[in-house]
Amino acid sequence: MSKQKKLIIANWKLNPENLKDAKKLFSDIKKVASRTQKVQTVICSPSVYISELNKMYSGHRIEMGAQDVFWENKGKHTGELSPVALKSVGAKYVIIGHSERRALGESNADVNKKMIAALKAGLNVVLCIGESKRDSQALYLKFLREELESALSGVSKNYLKNLIITYEPLWAIGKSADDAVSSHQMHEMYIFIRKILTEIYTKNTAFSVPIIYGGSAEPDNVKELLSSGEIDGFLVGHASLKADEFNEILEITNSI
Ligand code: PGA
Repeated sequence: MSKQKKLIIANWKLNPENLKDAKKLFSDIKKVASRTQKVQTVICSPSVYISELNKMYSGHRIEMGAQDVFWENKGKHTGELSPVALKSVGAKYVIIGHSERRALGESNADVNKKMIAALKAGLNVVLCIGESKRDSQALYLKFLREELESALSGVSKNYLKNLIITYEPLWAIGKSADDAVSSHQMHEMYIFIRKILTEIYTKNTAFSVPIIYGGSAEPDNVKELLSSGEIDGFLVGHASLKADEFNEILEITNSI
């Protein structure tokens, strides 16, 4: 994972509906992503598409990722996907702790087990943390601290080179650029996350972890967030399903 490059990570969620459409979307994104030198593009497609999409591009400017993972590599776990198996079909990244998984019952302890298993398997982990709402007493900061500290429990500093932290407030997901975090709020979160990382690890290590933003990242707000929010990239949901919008985000990021 290059520290100089900005990270633009597409979270396709349960889209597109079939492999044919997934290939079309990938190929439209590839036209731009394969030439945006200052950006590392990551496509987190549904896991069943990873292997086929991986065959469509042989460079390193686009890497594939999964959207979830299990913490065991084999055994009696019907329906689960292991880190080693995902890696073997071409996944380099995995999103862990997305709010849509947490809403289905994933606990902080589950997130922690998934993190450790994925990092041990050599995957880059895109850890998501985010509050559902903000309150005037700033209790949401306590909530975020808990999410981050428990996710990192037992994660040694040697693994941090493969970690990306995504601040993704639930109140901003699936809306529009106007509803996303402001650059001021993002700046505060950046400091807050770095502070917690510094408390757990050394300062140098803490500062080496990329912090990205997710939640209605769109062509209309990425420039400002990148210029003044001190962030290392974006986790892009709905705007990653329209190649022209996603490609615009790539171009804007590449030009900064
Ligand atoms: P959004 O989704 O860009 O559609 O808000 C982001 C995400 O849920 O990862």
